[in-house]
Amino acid sequence: MAEAVIELRGIVTRFGKRVIHDRLDLAVHRGEVLALVGGSGCGKTTLLREMIGLQRPAAGVVRVFGQDPDRLRGAERAALRRRWGVLFQHGALFSALPVADNIAFPLRETRLFAAAEVARLVARKLAQVGLPPDTGDLLPAALSGGMIKRVALARALALEPELLLLDEPTAGLDPLASEQFVSLIQALRAALGLTVVLVTHDLDTIRDLCDRVAVLADRGVAALGTLAQITAVRHPFIQEYFLGTRGARRVAG
Ligand SMILES: Nc1ncnc2c1ncn2[C@@H]1O[C@H](COP(=O)(O)OP(=O)(O)O)[C@@H](O)[C@H]1O
Ligand SMILES: [Mg+2]
Repeated sequence: MAEAVIELRGIVTRFGKRVIHDRLDLAVHRGEVLALVGGSGCGKTTLLREMIGLQRPAAGVVRVFGQDPDRLRGAERAALRRRWGVLFQHGALFSALPVADNIAFPLRETRLFAAAEVARLVARKLAQVGLPPDTGDLLPAALSGGMIKRVALARALALEPELLLLDEPTAGLDPLASEQFVSLIQALRAALGLTVVLVTHDLDTIRDLCDRVAVLADRGVAALGTLAQITAVRHPFIQEYFLGTRGARRVAG
């Protein structure tokens, strides 16, 4: 079996008295694209936050590249932090900053790069996500939804991470922009050898992009496997989601 880039064991998450995850287990393998699906409010975003130490579960073990992000401090934490990039659900860009400065932000934060090097890397990231160089001068307000996602992706990729976490990256995009974004992730994955965890509601995205699917339901991972394996599982959420009238055609296609 491939090495686990992320390992979650026995994760318990509570908000007040509400239990969101109850002894949840999940491993993400190096090089795979894993979809996280589940009903609204089942704890997908929370799980992503726990994976990268932005939130500490009430119980359980989190390992990313073999380390617990929550327990590292200082330089060690910064070094681990550079190995992933995140595109949050409402991961807004800094609206007052031009695109180039948005992408440069994580680069400058490290204080590792001279100004000319930052400019060179920003140009490279823009090209990588399929945006023309002069996009760098624009303010986010001047961009379409699809372009905003690309800039946010360029920012997530700024430090050349091995692991990419995407929270509903195609939500709110029209079908064409959504399809183009999926193709972009596919190309980047092939070029950069990324491991990707992707929260999505979009069956086309799952079918076209993802190697495995983890279904979050009943406070844990209710099913885990390829799309074909998942759809064979008898679970009300799965049957409705993948094989209801909305889903069946897409899964088959
Ligand atoms: N900081 C928080 N404080 C209290 N409740 C929260 C907090 N973050 C999330 N929740 C609740 O936990 C549940 C899971 O949230 P979330 O992970 O955002 O769900 P999903 O991304 O699957 O829609 C939701 O019911 C949400 O309201
Ligand atoms: Mg969410």
